[in-house]
Amino acid sequence: MKVLLVGGGGREHALAWKFKQDDPAAELIAAPGNPGIAEYARCVPIAATDIDALVALANHERPALTVIGPEAPLALGLVDRLRAAGHPAFGPTRSAAEIESSKVFAKQLMADAGVPTARAERHTDAAAAKRAVRDFGTPVVIKASGLAAGKGVIIADSTADADAAVDAMLSQRVFGTAGAEILVEEFMQGEEVSLLFLTDGEQWLPLVPAQDHKRLLDGDQGPNTGGMGAYAPVYPLVVTSGTERSSAHAPGNTWAEWHSLVGLAGDQIIAPVLDAMRRMGRRFSGALYAGLMVTTDGLKVVEFNCRLGDPETEAILPLTRYPLLPLMDAVARGGRLESGEWIGHLHPAHAVSTVVAAAGYPGTPRTGDVIGLPEAPPGVHVFHAGTARNGAGELVTAAGRVLAVTAVAPDLASAQHASASYAAAVSFPGKQFRTDIAWRELARSARAS
Ligand code: AMP
Ligand code: GLY
Repeated sequence: MKVLLVGGGGREHALAWKFKQDDPAAELIAAPGNPGIAEYARCVPIAATDIDALVALANHERPALTVIGPEAPLALGLVDRLRAAGHPAFGPTRSAAEIESSKVFAKQLMADAGVPTARAERHTDAAAAKRAVRDFGTPVVIKASGLAAGKGVIIADSTADADAAVDAMLSQRVFGTAGAEILVEEFMQGEEVSLLFLTDGEQWLPLVPAQDHKRLLDGDQGPNTGGMGAYAPVYPLVVTSGTERSSAHAPGNTWAEWHSLVGLAGDQIIAPVLDAMRRMGRRFSGALYAGLMVTTDGLKVVEFNCRLGDPETEAILPLTRYPLLPLMDAVARGGRLESGEWIGHLHPAHAVSTVVAAAGYPGTPRTGDVIGLPEAPPGVHVFHAGTARNGAGELVTAAGRVLAVTAVAPDLASAQHASASYAAAVSFPGKQFRTDIAWRELARSARAS
């Protein structure tokens, strides 16, 4: 099977690895790919946002399936263009991708579908937005509606900070048109969990729940980033009645615990959202990511993404036993997924993925630093996120997040140790990484035992 994979980050490296597991005979082409992906795929230097060139590539290569990793090409309508040219593509159409590319649309969708989320108001006028800030009280969340590369959300602890965020987005237009419309949103207290689903628009198949770590430094300190690591599965977030949170943790338990979380999210969130999207003529097929807050009032949606999460995917896929390629192929061709088939299709293990970031991240990352990669021990996957080859053929840093180091082990503490140890052994100047990915889960299991 010939597969075109669009993207060149850690998520796409994990996908390429998984596709080769699923079908060792698959012929993979990646655009643009990266030096890690190049181990499995022929990499073509076309940017993931160069829609015309990607369609031309598909016309030339005639892949049986195109899988799109990042949100930007989806929001630009790559799937619509590929399908119009007769190429099956896995991912939502441009209008369905608005579930991520327009936070205002996503809020309206959730209101229409009766899906629990933070109360929010849409504003385009700074004075009115500042009045809303005073109504909501602090902390309050200010969000640019459009895609802002993960930087468009400000959690303001004071009215002054909130006003500054409103001015930056609506008056100074720091995010351009992405911030021409904003949400003033209630701050939700709780623990976040990322639930990823493959869907044909009607049926869905959950992947194992994961948790991202957005802050740069250990102990969830320092600035927000695109994600410094993730782990899976996430056990604790069982909401028994929709109003009550149980922190019961049963180390070594079966998947029953997260089954209840996933089941609840499926019923309360995914089913109504997919129904509403179909009713609007925006059927969503592809990967749907629900960023959830587990609150004392039950599950609430923080955000939807129209694609697999990064770095969650790097933690999830090494645990995922069922093959993705045939499922993505079926969805891309307009076929149907069988629901309820997923239990027992996981490796009974824990995965911790530690991101190794470049000097300067999350500000302007330094690129071109030569990377030394030790040999990976068994159970450790080194997914390339922002790497390139320099003129001398050496592996160098090329973006903020350089590597996602995933360790899989029978217990979480060992997975964390193996992941952090490998990250520590990677060498390049100014490298940054956290040593505490999965700390919440480890603290929970310590409390439970
Ligand atoms: P987003 O870009 O929508 O993923 O938001 C970035 C991060 O901001 C989320 O992962 C949350 O940690 C946080 N966040 C967003 N909205 C809220 C909210 N209403 N309450 C609390 N935290 C939030
Ligand atoms: N890990 C969050 C995201 O993929 O947007």
